[in-house]
Amino acid sequence: MKVIIKKDYLELSKVAANIVRDEIIRKPNAVLGLPTGSTPLGMYRELIRMHKEEGLDLSGATTFNLDEYYGISYDNEQSYHYYMHQNFFDHVNIKPVNINIPDVIDDDIDRECEEYDNRIRKSGGIDLMILGIGHNGHIGFNEPGEEMETRTHITDLTKETIEANARFFENYDMVPKKAVTMGFGGIMTARKILLLANGEGKAEIIGKLLGSSKISTRIPASFLHIHSNVIVAVSEDAAKGLR
Ligand code: F6R
Repeated sequence: MKVIIKKDYLELSKVAANIVRDEIIRKPNAVLGLPTGSTPLGMYRELIRMHKEEGLDLSGATTFNLDEYYGISYDNEQSYHYYMHQNFFDHVNIKPVNINIPDVIDDDIDRECEEYDNRIRKSGGIDLMILGIGHNGHIGFNEPGEEMETRTHITDLTKETIEANARFFENYDMVPKKAVTMGFGGIMTARKILLLANGEGKAEIIGKLLGSSKISTRIPASFLHIHSNVIVAVSEDAAKGLR
């Protein structure tokens, strides 16, 4: 894994946006895998700036989001559909037909999961997958546990993740307990992976991830060690656990 340490969140966001921009310039019809959460917000802001001020053209790009809460309506401000439109898609020129986010409203969720993987395959596969990381090492909503699902699937969120997400909801009962997430199979077929981590809260998990080359379902992110083209970009405070 190649590690990039940046002074602060702004610099981290810029380096992430530069990597996305370079991929789009190299391959205008690139397929991007996209995360939500607090970490990529600065990257999306910088990409919007590049689009508006520097003419970055995303009209050929296709996107696949990593995950969506199960049973949430898309006009709920906490849904990832809402987040992606609000924070990125509404401000750039990605064609709506090329935007893919797991459809959690579908009556047959298993079929939708299967179709999501088929759509990724038919697109030619993900060129650049951008990831955040949970405090517990989750990637997408692939949570620590006994086993790891490779395909897109519906999953129970761990207590730790529900608690981490609770800050965004009015009360605990409203926090989704399930999500649909791309599995490690989909993530690992990406040709290049960029993992982002910001803030002191991520120092421990980044220390664990980079402090060992072993893989374990207890730290889902550790599976990234198998991939040959991973960049881990972190802010200085998230790098505090590194020797
Ligand atoms: C979101 C996602 C999650 C987040 C992770 C970190 O699409 O896949 O795995 O990347 O929970 O979230 P933040 O960035 O809010 O710390």
